[in-house]
Amino acid sequence: EHVTVVDHPLVQHKLTQMRVKDTPTADFRRLLREIAHLLAYEVMRDLPLEQTRIETPMEPMTAPQIEGKKLVLVSILRAGNGLLDGVLDLVPQARVGHIGLYRDPETLVAVEYYLKVPSDIEDRLVIVVDPMLATANSASAALTRLKEVGARNLKFLCLLAAPEGIETLSREHPDVPIFTASIDDRLDDHGYIRPGLGDAGDRMFG
Ligand code: PRP
Repeated sequence: EHVTVVDHPLVQHKLTQMRVKDTPTADFRRLLREIAHLLAYEVMRDLPLEQTRIETPMEPMTAPQIEGKKLVLVSILRAGNGLLDGVLDLVPQARVGHIGLYRDPETLVAVEYYLKVPSDIEDRLVIVVDPMLATANSASAALTRLKEVGARNLKFLCLLAAPEGIETLSREHPDVPIFTASIDDRLDDHGYIRPGLGDAGDRMFG
C-alpha cells in the first residue's frame, strides 16, 4: 500500500493531545517522541533481518537482528528533529542525515539551506521524517535532492498530512511509500493543515 494511516488507538490518543492548543511545549515534545516510537514500529515493519550467532545463558543459537548500518534517517529541519529523536530511540545504530528547508511564506516554495547525508546512501533504506505534509513542497524537494545524491530506497514518515500533500507527493514520488498518523480535512490559503495542530516547529521550539 502506498499510503499507510497508522490508526492505532495509542497514536490517535496522543495525536489528539498534541492538537489541543493549551498543550504546553514540554508535553508536545514528549508526545511527539512517544508517537514517533509507534510510527517507527509501523514504518520499519518490513526491515530486513540478518542472522547472527549469540549465546544465551543456556546455549548458543542463531537469532535475527536488524542490519542497523543499512538504515539512514533523514530529518527535514527543523520540525523533523522531533520525530527523528523518537525513531532513533528504537534504532540507535541508524545513520542520520539532515536537510534544511524552509517554506517561502509568500510562494510556499521550499528553499534549501542545508544538506548533509551519510555516504553510501545508495545501498540503504532512507526514512525521511517531518511531522507535517502540507503542500508537500518540502517533502518533495527533500526526496528529489536525496535521489540526486543517490538514494534509491526511500520512505516518508509524517505525523499529519493534508489530502493535497498526499496527492502531490504520490504523483511526484510514486516510488516512496507514505506513513502518517492522520490525513486531515484540507489545506488553508496559507498552506496550513486544517484542523491540524498549528505550526509544529513553533510548538516544539516555542
Ligand atoms: C513546516 C513543516 C514542514 C513544512 C510542511 O516547516 O515542518 O517542513 O512546513 O509544509 P509543505 O508540505 O507545504 O512544504 P517550515 O517551513 O515552517 O520550517 P520549520 O520546520 O523550520 O519551522
